[in-house]
Amino acid sequence: DQTRQIAQTLDEFRLSKAQLLEVKKRMRVEIENGLKKKTHDTATVKMLPTFVRSTPDGTENGDFLALDLGGTNFRVLLVRIRSGKRRSVEMHNKIYAIPIEVMQGTGEELFDHIVYCISDFLDYMGMKNARLPLGFTFSFPCKQTSLDAGILVNWTKGFKATDCEGEDVVDLLREGIKRKEEFDLDVVAVVNDTVGTMMTCAYEEATCEVGLIAGTGSNACYMEEMRNIEMVEGDKGRMCVNMEWGAFGDNGCLDDIRTKYDRAVDENSLNEGKQRYEKMCSGMYLGEIVRNILIDLTKRGFLFRGQISETLKTRGIFETKFLSQIESDRLALLQVRAILQQLGLDSTCDDSIIVKEVCGTVSRRAAQICGAGMAAVVDKIRENRGLDHLEITVGVDGTLYKLHPHFSRIMHQTVKELAPKCDVNFLLSEDGSGKGAALITAVGLKGESL
Ligand code: BG6
Ligand code: GLC
Repeated sequence: DQTRQIAQTLDEFRLSKAQLLEVKKRMRVEIENGLKKKTHDTATVKMLPTFVRSTPDGTENGDFLALDLGGTNFRVLLVRIRSGKRRSVEMHNKIYAIPIEVMQGTGEELFDHIVYCISDFLDYMGMKNARLPLGFTFSFPCKQTSLDAGILVNWTKGFKATDCEGEDVVDLLREGIKRKEEFDLDVVAVVNDTVGTMMTCAYEEATCEVGLIAGTGSNACYMEEMRNIEMVEGDKGRMCVNMEWGAFGDNGCLDDIRTKYDRAVDENSLNEGKQRYEKMCSGMYLGEIVRNILIDLTKRGFLFRGQISETLKTRGIFETKFLSQIESDRLALLQVRAILQQLGLDSTCDDSIIVKEVCGTVSRRAAQICGAGMAAVVDKIRENRGLDHLEITVGVDGTLYKLHPHFSRIMHQTVKELAPKCDVNFLLSEDGSGKGAALITAVGLKGESL
């Protein structure tokens, strides 16, 4: 009976092919809403124009600074790009911590910290006087009116600094640099991480016209036809659109597949009611869904001898790397128990079996709905081009995609099943999105993109 009740609980997370096709269909509806002038203002999937009009062609050249803010790590990078026959990219980077008080303090503190890190990096590289052009990977929704202007629509994930929403983050960065009075930089481009990732991969593989992040957050971008982007003048060629698909479902359109655990995670988050799709499929939230299920199963007496420990009450204990370890098939159950022990959870052998099953169910659904979203995107591109069959490459990054033992495979499989007319090649970004941001900066400097 206990087994049956646990199975029943987990069944809510099992989606049929029909349900996944429905998710794909709804994503397509929201994509259209975001692209059309009439519905854009109220659309949940915002489909933000990026002013990136082409992928790299190898003629990019120069030395650039790049910032990469919004994923697990904050990085400052120096990127040296050489064009021509022996084109090459050389990168130097340093990772900096952003303390939670800074992520959730004032905007001024946040940007002062960022500028402090740039200053440290320039010292480290011995380049304080270089006045380099800079590409700013800023992994949050920004309304862009040009390559170098981006108004933060709202914070997502773990950020909540005051006085930034509604402001141009390029201005905030420039003001921070001025306040410091130590060095000068030329901020040329603000870039979403999906776009940076797409560009990084497109430099190696010309068929890459989609970017996907399955990490702390979840999002995608792709090259859309200008004629379909009603918010930007002009009908010729293409422009990359930052979908901000994490907000899919914020109008309630996914409520029939959300569980009470999804709702609990949402209620405990920094942005209640927002980013509902992201909260079902990205690294920052998967562990929280798992934790909420485990609490419920414990309350019902099926786990941990019915004892809810302080640890289990702690938000954020199941980071992506732990989920990934727990689900690794190379681990024996004894090792799963050891991991739970490390987290401060005393488990029996039976407990560890259940925990592993819970993790597997939650991450499978995540991979499937992410795949359903991607299926909608590639089919849209195929239709845009009037093709019966599309071959395309998706550049991907993110800890969930990289570390999890099953996420990528299930996601690929789902895309294949839901978009059978597309042949989708997934290319892992080895160099993060800083390289892509530098490539965009190079094009921006030449003025070609505008
Ligand atoms: C990195 C990119 O490799 O991946 C970042 O350089 C991006 O721009 C990140 O935000 C996403 O993954 P995660 O898991 O760190 O959020
Ligand atoms: C969040 C952000 C989005 C970013 C994604 C992945 O969804 O809003 O801009 O691309 O996380 O980092």
